Amino acid sequence: MSVAVLLLLALGLLEAEGRCFFSHTQEYCVCYNLSEESLSVIIPSVVEFRGRELEKYVAFPISDMDPSTTEMLGSLVIRKIIFGELLVLEILPAILRFFSYTQVQELVFESCIFEERGNNEMASQDLPILSPHFHNICPPLMGHEQDFSSLSSWLETLQELAVTASHVTSLPCVIGRVFKDLCSLDVAQNSLGDESLMPTFCKGAFPQLQVLSLQNWTLTSYHRVCESVQLLPGLQHLDLSQNKLKADPSSSCQWKNVFQIFNLSSAGLDEVLTPLPPSLEVLDMSCNHLHAVATSFSSLKKLFLSQNMLQAAPSIKNYPMLDTLHVDNNSITELPWHEVKHLQDVAVAGNTHNCSCSGARGLQALAALGHLGQGWPQDYTCHSLPH
Ligand SMILES: *[C@@H]1O[C@H](CO)[C@@H](O)[C@H](O)[C@H]1NC(C)=O
Ligand SMILES: *[C@@H]1O[C@H](CO)[C@@H](O)[C@H](O)[C@H]1NC(C)=O
Ligand SMILES: *[C@@H]1O[C@H](CO)[C@@H](O)[C@H](O)[C@H]1NC(C)=O
Repeated sequence: MSVAVLLLLALGLLEAEGRCFFSHTQEYCVCYNLSEESLSVIIPSVVEFRGRELEKYVAFPISDMDPSTTEMLGSLVIRKIIFGELLVLEILPAILRFFSYTQVQELVFESCIFEERGNNEMASQDLPILSPHFHNICPPLMGHEQDFSSLSSWLETLQELAVTASHVTSLPCVIGRVFKDLCSLDVAQNSLGDESLMPTFCKGAFPQLQVLSLQNWTLTSYHRVCESVQLLPGLQHLDLSQNKLKADPSSSCQWKNVFQIFNLSSAGLDEVLTPLPPSLEVLDMSCNHLHAVATSFSSLKKLFLSQNMLQAAPSIKNYPMLDTLHVDNNSITELPWHEVKHLQDVAVAGNTHNCSCSGARGLQALAALGHLGQGWPQDYTCHSLPH
């Protein structure tokens, strides 16, 4: 029996009529209510289960699988498993345990419904899946920390966690303290708001965190963020994009963190918020309403300012380490060509270029160096000569 059949049998997915779609090019498989005949012997590296109620498999005898079965599971090269549109009733530990025998590294739950139903007894030691992604799950996984006490030894070892668009309403302090090893936390699109910041990033929470995405959290106070993440000493990458951030004149918060990557794209900015962290290497402020950018950073390497209202490019002299400048879709007529020519990657499409001799020569010189990225030449137009 093929190991794929075994895997699906084990999940009880073979008992009903169903279909399975394999994409050979992408090594990808989607299974709808499978039957044995519909199974191919192909073992895809990504397996996706949709439209079944996983609750039926809660009784699956994971604890007494014989060694030959676990050995076979261990030989499966499945890299990623996606569960979609499933009803998952507190069998998360059982599922995790089952797949811990395979080589799966990524586990994604999409639109899965998690329901409370008393205690579950599943011990969860030694689960090798260290980067699960939960998307659009309901009701909230977080905020029910008691339900996950049986998972706490696993949660402690997680390195990456994504819980996106899942109606998370709070991330209490105690939860953050469980995640002792977590390097990357993506809690985008959860509408938690300004008030949730302080309790979430309390003392002792997420002590190893390096990458934090608070994208689309309905945040409004820039300085509240600054005050809230002070206790994350290892932070390297902060994503605040897709919020509506405003400065709070009453706050004098200074960034204690020395993070390098800051994403403020689509953050509703009318002006550059200050202070910015001093040691930035990548700053993304695209898709805002900025009229001017007069910052200066000795370490900045990449500056993204596309889709703003800039009438002039920022002065390159203020960024001695810069190699990338994106200012597409602004109202810039001319770049300081002699400064810009040292950059590796420049994007100025969608502006109204002044194609005087010097302007046109500057653009053509950049293009000849191969430093103009996407959009050259079709998206470059002249102010006076639109063609
Ligand atoms: C910033 O976030 C947006 C999504 O909101 C993403 O498209 C963009 O690539 C990010 N920028 C960087 C530099 O990672
Ligand atoms: C610039 O605007 C055009 C047209 O609205 C859009 O298709 C393109 O994606 C934009 N480019 C950037 C980098 O924002
Ligand atoms: C274009 O640049 C030339 C030379 O620098 C200048 O004389 C002219 O006024 C500019 N035209 C526009 C429309 O900015």
